[in-house]
Amino acid sequence: MNVSKAEIIISAVSQAQYPQDDLPEIVLLGRSNVGKSSFINTLIRRKALARTSSQPGKTQTMNFYRINEQFYFVDMPGYGYAKVSKKEREKWGMMIEEYLRERKNIVQIFLLIDSRHEPSEDDRLMYDWLCYYGLNPVVIATKSDKISKNDAKKALKKIRNTLSAKQEQEVILFSAETLLGKEEAWKCIEEKL
Ligand code: GTP
Ligand code: MG
Repeated sequence: MNVSKAEIIISAVSQAQYPQDDLPEIVLLGRSNVGKSSFINTLIRRKALARTSSQPGKTQTMNFYRINEQFYFVDMPGYGYAKVSKKEREKWGMMIEEYLRERKNIVQIFLLIDSRHEPSEDDRLMYDWLCYYGLNPVVIATKSDKISKNDAKKALKKIRNTLSAKQEQEVILFSAETLLGKEEAWKCIEEKL
């Protein structure tokens, strides 16, 4: 897809603030620092529309980026970030859960998992929860530039096994550095628009 326009519409913390123009939404989920905001920037070829940081916990609101006035990327706060207070975590959890369960505009969910590590308990819970609610995500194995080709193969297997993923589960090896997986990810989006 040729992205000619990309703009932040709202950083939302509650339902009342979600956009009301009724466009399809593509959602980025995953633990803090896994590369959600970088994924968006990579796909739309902007360096820093979605703010990224080497410090986990950068994205703390649900950020709606409108692309070509055609659909939204929804960049979510990451989970599993220890330095956030329990109360804060619960608030995010509720906000995200409410959005995922009630928002009718969601057409695709990407669950991002770091290809260098085994999926965490939080990753597994999120995956199971999404599948349970019929929100079957496409899994993105991020930061593949940091591992060898051979390790990447192993990582994909590990992710599948740890998540007990079904055969038909799509897992895309991705890198914001080498752009590996970018076209494949776009295909998943275009299919749903
Ligand atoms: P939160 O907003 O905290 O939930 O994090 P996030 O998931 O949005 O991660 P973000 O995109 O901010 O990336 C976190 C760090 O990882 C940044 O320093 C990025 O530059 C780096 N990063 C993201 N993707 C890649 C990648 O594919 N390869 C490499 N080498 N680094 C990456
Ligand atoms: Mg982020």
